[in-house]
Amino acid sequence: MNTKILKINVNSPEADKIEYAAKALKEGGTVAFPTETVYGLGADALNTEAVKKIFEAKGRPADNPLIVHISKIEEVDKLVESVSNDAKKLMSAFWPGPLTIIMKKSNIIPQIITAGLDTVAIRLPSHPIARELIKTAGIPIAAPSANISGKPSPTIAQHVVDDLFGKVDVIIDGGTAAVGLESTVIDMSSEVPALLRPGGITYEHLREILGDVQIDPAMLSKINADVIPRSPGMKYTHYSPNAEVVIVEGEKEKVVNAINQLVEIKRNKGLKVGVMALDETVKRYKADYVFSVGSENKPETIAANLFYKLREFDQVGVNIIFAQSVSEKGIGMAIRNRLNKAAGYNIIKV
Ligand code: TXA
Ligand code: MG
Repeated sequence: MNTKILKINVNSPEADKIEYAAKALKEGGTVAFPTETVYGLGADALNTEAVKKIFEAKGRPADNPLIVHISKIEEVDKLVESVSNDAKKLMSAFWPGPLTIIMKKSNIIPQIITAGLDTVAIRLPSHPIARELIKTAGIPIAAPSANISGKPSPTIAQHVVDDLFGKVDVIIDGGTAAVGLESTVIDMSSEVPALLRPGGITYEHLREILGDVQIDPAMLSKINADVIPRSPGMKYTHYSPNAEVVIVEGEKEKVVNAINQLVEIKRNKGLKVGVMALDETVKRYKADYVFSVGSENKPETIAANLFYKLREFDQVGVNIIFAQSVSEKGIGMAIRNRLNKAAGYNIIKV
């Protein structure tokens, strides 16, 4: 397939380029576009044949449902059965922005979007290119992250090119995704709201609006093979670079020492070793490649860098990455969730 790459200005998206990409979507094509969280791979959410192309391009399992993206709050009404008062509160507090809300679906949502569930995930992104594109297309847009299934989500257009060039119709280059981690997913379809995936809108933010919020067990620890998670995406290995990832957790000095010892052992075995450090510790490691993801005092920066750095380790070709853990506060919950999954819950406590 011929993939067209369109560079679009984030601050004032060029109308002709948006028009070109919107036309591809209306005609049943696939368009990768930037959002404030990560790049998404979009298609007409109401066109089953178009949505099939997303699953094919990503190699995504058919039982993992997609998020439907809209450009105005009013558009939610025809996509869901009803909007509860609590859901309305969330929308006015956090939309447009990195929050996905799950509600009972209406009849116009095709099976392929929800993987047969009776609920649908809806998100109103804040990124100017995403919003212009959805508005101009005039249709709801299904969009998972624009990576090959299982790989870290793309935070720059080059990541999308690396994974999907030749497999999609258009890739929009709109710079760097600011949040760097996928949206928070909250299930509002049952009695008590349940946080299914942590993200830029934090657990603390949600509790301010809703009071009680359950945390889905699949979010924080490995789930047994026989448990069906509420969010089907939770059961898959995710965000993993080619290299093995091992997290080392504990008091800072102990972590630094433990990682240096582990690096030594692996290097003696002839492996190429990477360390994912923080600004505060980056100079203290001796490995083949040592990258910092940011300062421990700036978790937003760590979130923005995490997937980028995981992909960078793959580019330099390390066999194993030792990663320092981070605090669970605020967006730290989302960082830990992605890091734990990248590591397949391979965590050493020191
Ligand atoms: O930030 C984001 O959300 C990005 C950008 C492109 O918007 N999209 C994204 O999509 O991360 P994806 O497909 O990579 O992740 C969607 C997650 C999956 O874990 C999926 O299982 C879950 O949302 N999901 C979708 N519909 C659901 C539903 N009806 N019930 C429960 N979980 C659902
Ligand atoms: Mg994804």
